[in-house]
Amino acid sequence: MKDKISIRPAKAADVPEINAILNYAVMHTNYNLNTRPRSEEKAVEWFESHMRENYPVIVAQLQGKVIGWASLSHFREYSGYDSTAEVSIYVSADHRHKGIGTTLLTTLITMAEGRYHCLIAVVTDNNWASLALHTRCGFIANTTFREIGFKNNTYIDITFMTKLLK
Ligand SMILES: CC(C)(COP(=O)(O)OP(=O)(O)OC[C@H]1O[C@@H](n2cnc3c(N)ncnc32)[C@H](O)[C@@H]1OP(=O)(O)O)[C@@H](O)C(=O)NCCC(=O)NCCS
Repeated sequence: MKDKISIRPAKAADVPEINAILNYAVMHTNYNLNTRPRSEEKAVEWFESHMRENYPVIVAQLQGKVIGWASLSHFREYSGYDSTAEVSIYVSADHRHKGIGTTLLTTLITMAEGRYHCLIAVVTDNNWASLALHTRCGFIANTTFREIGFKNNTYIDITFMTKLLK
């Protein structure tokens, strides 16, 4: 029997698994521009501020284990951007390319409708999976900023992708 993946709001108890998935990308890719893993303490702060400010964090769960997550966050620290939210989405390395990212992102878009006017994804330009995922979900690549990121001794191009909501 095929095991069923469920998508649900994240709980405080999920934070270590969410953080482990994030930190894998931090340590093994240039897709997340942090150069050091996020501490558990910072991850808890991140989760609590999302709950306090009512920004969604959702997880994909399989057999009781978190295998992916997605969230919306405030975009830049200016109130003029309150109508825009930034997407983060991560699927654990051994569960990619099975449609989980698409399910997480479509769920997040539905949650964002009526609440935000614009969603934005900030994607490093070699991240083909993320570019494909956001394009498939209706995001448009607006602009690529040349070499504004730097990680692992390489300057990195960053593409801003947006989707205007109903
Ligand atoms: C980006 C990510 C979330 C996609 O999740 P996923 O569960 O693999 O995505 P899906 O299986 O739903 O596939 C979505 C699209 O990405 C494409 N895709 C997935 N993996 C791919 C790969 N390795 N190379 C090229 N395209 C890929 C799929 O083909 C699909 O597009 P298409 O059907 O139009 O061809 C996942 O690769 C990931 O967690 N990457 C590391 C973290 C990251 O980069 N997060 C995004 C930061 S902006």
